[in-house]
Amino acid sequence: MKDSKDLLVVGVGTMGRPYLQAAARLGLRVRAVESAATWEGRPRDLAETFYRAAVGPEELWNLAVTRAVTERAPDGLVSFAEPHVLAGALAQERLSLPGPSLHAAVISRNKALQRTTFADHGVPQPEFRLAASVADARAWMLQRLPVVVKPLTLAGSEGVELVADAAGVEDVIARRAGEGTVLVEEAVMGPEFSWEALIRDGEVLFENITAKETTQPPYFVELSHRCGHRFDDPLTTARVAALTRGVIEAIGMRTGLVHLEFKVDERGPVLMETAVRTPGDYLPDAIGLTFGFDLYEAVVRLHLGLPLDGLPPAEPVAWAATWFPTVRPGTITGITGVEESEAHPGVVRVRLRKGPGDTVRPLTSSSQRMGHVLIAAESPSEREDTLKFVRETLRVSVEQA
Ligand SMILES: Nc1ncnc2c1ncn2[C@@H]1O[C@H](COP(=O)(O)OP(=O)(O)O)[C@@H](O)[C@H]1O
Ligand SMILES: [Mg+2]
Repeated sequence: MKDSKDLLVVGVGTMGRPYLQAAARLGLRVRAVESAATWEGRPRDLAETFYRAAVGPEELWNLAVTRAVTERAPDGLVSFAEPHVLAGALAQERLSLPGPSLHAAVISRNKALQRTTFADHGVPQPEFRLAASVADARAWMLQRLPVVVKPLTLAGSEGVELVADAAGVEDVIARRAGEGTVLVEEAVMGPEFSWEALIRDGEVLFENITAKETTQPPYFVELSHRCGHRFDDPLTTARVAALTRGVIEAIGMRTGLVHLEFKVDERGPVLMETAVRTPGDYLPDAIGLTFGFDLYEAVVRLHLGLPLDGLPPAEPVAWAATWFPTVRPGTITGITGVEESEAHPGVVRVRLRKGPGDTVRPLTSSSQRMGHVLIAAESPSEREDTLKFVRETLRVSVEQA
């Protein structure tokens, strides 16, 4: 491999660092665009140049990316997360670099563009109404209760809520009057899954299904992810394959990482949303542990047009999960069981970002969770045992406000 290849990573923070580490292992010349918010902690040893993206509207990433690519055109570009997808795809398009395609990037950034694209591509999805305001969707909602109201471009379940009855309709109209355009959808009831895949020129090279647990309505905050999921009936398996391929085709996905979410009800799988970026919640770590490869390095290779050096295995070699401990709102008075949990053979790490004295707010979006535990076990049943052990062992006491 030529070690002179030049990679630009857009967005690093904490969770994007493994891209830089993979690039270093590959001997690449690396530059990165980093947010001013995490600028001080940027890993200077992992990139030769950092470009600073000011905090503010997403378009500011484009300013920094354009600066980087006009200074020197890279051989490949990896966009890390949602705010980086458009700026990255613009540069990829302009420089003819491997990427999801501008079409896929634009659609993935807007839930209304997703629904309106998938409607005629045969991708199973909820009935929806795109409304200029929540109030405009009143009659539609009343006829289809329960429904879900969601903003077009946020993430992490922010602003996504279930409306169960007529009183809830009036309440959400009053509370979200100033919001402008919203998407209102039929509420799909059933277990939730996600699909993560490596795609090259529209072809699926690797795929993983993740089973999820979320909080009870009205908010849908993700609480755990179990990778390497298999459906036991062939019909669901076939329908999931059709849904995922349908999405790839509909968005015109070319190359990179895709992450999409679906629920399964009596119709089969029904699409929630799709993204062309790194999945959150440390899923790449859990997927890598499950299939025994470095997902970050595979993504870097795809974006440089390098061979994958042997495809990741199709069968799991371990059974990984991430779990997010949650507590009632209030002030944390103590946390016990961290070391005991870490000592468990199935636990890879326990990372808590809150401690005694910190305030815990009601759980309405992912950002309010207090940390995560990464698990990798030798069998699905050991994974359940490990999850149970950690759930019982890691104790957070809270004084209610
Ligand atoms: N139409 C729906 N029916 C049932 N649950 C939904 C629906 N839309 C969203 N949800 C739930 O809300 C979560 C967040 O919604 P999503 O569209 O994925 O937005 P975000 O970008 O915030 O992740 C989903 O993962 C799912 O659990
Ligand atoms: Mg989502």
